[in-house]
Amino acid sequence: MNMDAPLGSISVETFLKDYWQKKPLLIRQAIPDFSPPVTADELAGLACEPDVESRLIRFDANEDHWSLEQGPFPESRFAELPDSQWTLLVQAVDHWIPEAADLVERFRFIPSWRVDDLMISYAAPGGGVGPHYDNYDVFLLQASGTRRWELGGVCTEDSPRRPDAPVMILPEWKPDQSYDLEPGDMLYLPPQIAHNGYAVGDDCMTYSIGFRAPAHNEILRSFSDFVGEKLGREIRYADPDLSLQTNPGQIGQDALNRVQAILASYLKDEAQIARWFGRYMTEPKYPELEEVQEPPSIEELQQWLAQDIPLRRNEGARFAYLDKAGEASLFANGERYPLTCETLPLAEALCLRNDYTPAQLPNLNRDALDLLCRLIGAGALYPVLD
Ligand code: SIN
Ligand code: CO
Repeated sequence: MNMDAPLGSISVETFLKDYWQKKPLLIRQAIPDFSPPVTADELAGLACEPDVESRLIRFDANEDHWSLEQGPFPESRFAELPDSQWTLLVQAVDHWIPEAADLVERFRFIPSWRVDDLMISYAAPGGGVGPHYDNYDVFLLQASGTRRWELGGVCTEDSPRRPDAPVMILPEWKPDQSYDLEPGDMLYLPPQIAHNGYAVGDDCMTYSIGFRAPAHNEILRSFSDFVGEKLGREIRYADPDLSLQTNPGQIGQDALNRVQAILASYLKDEAQIARWFGRYMTEPKYPELEEVQEPPSIEELQQWLAQDIPLRRNEGARFAYLDKAGEASLFANGERYPLTCETLPLAEALCLRNDYTPAQLPNLNRDALDLLCRLIGAGALYPVLD
């Protein structure tokens, strides 16, 4: 796979300048000779697993009726399906299949902590999720068969939607563009663009690399919780400069200024914001699936490294690092690991890729080895032992 040209004929610089978060882009043969790392059978297998998030969406044209079923599915479910007008969607396939995680690495020209997951859909002829919009950016990579993508208009929360459908369906929507995507073709969509993709013919698989952008309401709530949890109950609003009011019920400008100053004092604390944001943006998608274990000893780790055993980022793990505000930190799965100038180069290397030969791990001093052991114990890294 050509990582130097992740978007085929268009450069990453042009993409970021003219398209990212701005307008759709169709890239023919973004990945020429694309060979999908996950087959339709493997996808159906994943949809039967209890820990995997999957959905089956069907449209009954006679009844004009949309239906939604949540996985896991019994294997027999797939044999019962009609010949057309259904689609199976499996979320976070990159969390389960290392080759799928490697495909997502191709999109690291966007910060890795903005990536949500790789969703894969398989659709019978005519199958799709209906006209809708999403609140996130997505790259839609055609993996097999043909999918027709119809696009048109920017939607918001106020856009009308069908009240009777279990998924978002935009009623009476008219597309103004239509493209047939063949394997290797890719369509980028920024948030809120109305779209409808359906299979034209058999064996239609689409890989969606979806991004995440926290809503302002989540940012404010999460930061407030983070700061608030650390504050004792004795630090309080104070008004030693209080002057006599004509009406005791009035909230005067002086009171508003005091409370605004309290809020501003926390928002001015860059180090606190950095510690919170790194944790927040690396929280795992499925925290309940995290597997913490006894960390290896430094000696055990040294043996693996001496045998040239590679380490790999756990498929579900999110990493980021930060070197600012007078302190450096590595964040992995919502945890903060303080860094020193001794361990910063290792953290940078861990954030550059998702697998590492020992030679790709710089400055393996004792602190760095200890950090690796802790990351293995936390389930963020694992040695590829076989
Ligand atoms: C798909 O059906 O593969 C993608 C669904 C979407 O449009 O978000
Ligand atoms: Co969509």
